Amino acid sequence: MILSNIRVKPLTAAIGAEVEGVSLAEPLSDATFTALHDALMDHQVIFFRDQEMTLEQHKDFGRRFGDLHVHPAAPGPKGHPEILVIHADEKSKHVAGEGWHTDVSCDVEPPMGSILHIHTAPEVGGDTLFSNMYAAYESLSDRMQQFLDGLTAMHRSEHVHKGRYGLKEKLRDDDYPEAIHPVVRTHPVTGRKGLYVNASFTTRIMELSKAESHDILQMLCNHIARGVQFQCRYRWENNSVAFWDNRCVQHHAAWDYYPNVRHGYRVTIQGDRPV
Ligand code: SIN
Repeated sequence: MILSNIRVKPLTAAIGAEVEGVSLAEPLSDATFTALHDALMDHQVIFFRDQEMTLEQHKDFGRRFGDLHVHPAAPGPKGHPEILVIHADEKSKHVAGEGWHTDVSCDVEPPMGSILHIHTAPEVGGDTLFSNMYAAYESLSDRMQQFLDGLTAMHRSEHVHKGRYGLKEKLRDDDYPEAIHPVVRTHPVTGRKGLYVNASFTTRIMELSKAESHDILQMLCNHIARGVQFQCRYRWENNSVAFWDNRCVQHHAAWDYYPNVRHGYRVTIQGDRPV
């Protein structure tokens, strides 16, 4: 019996797959939902071309996978607090997501996934790079894995979010959340271990001295950035969608298209406390 017309085409051996044969604007059948969830668990980030979706349809697609997250520092468009606007043009001084990171890891319960719909892609440039954190962990030596297992790290947001998204000053106590998470987390669905420190939000390994923490974090962030064997790079077109699993993926938005326009919307799905 054919349950769905979905085709999943891996982008690289380590991470990423293009999914064909589904319209994300339509309500998902249970079979389609399962196929997409399986593809996400197998490939960590999945991509779709030629998807026209309203903001409501984008949110409905996200809600199929969990409750939606509201960004602590970025007010969404009017009536859509769950939408994060991704926009850059000739006036931009910075762009969201430049630098390797996992989304909002400063939250006590950071998002499980993010769904980015690019409406306007620049003619050239504006790719997003993705990195597999299972593979980043597994490619460390046994001794380094043992050293990192059981350590915890502080993830802070003020230095990332202050002055961004039009938020000039701290308005509420929870505008700039911070949280302590394991350096190595176990994925709640796959049971696999992955590195969970990132160059944007992670500021300190709690069990080490300041100098040791600085150097170990630097080593891990270099390892993630240089690990081209466990990365993929996605070339956007208008109406492409990427859906990544923040529990086992980091991403980096390349800002190499200034002064051209890149515009889209992100829906982010709530997650659990990392363990
Ligand atoms: C982000 O969600 O961090 C932005 C990703 C992108 O714009 O490609």
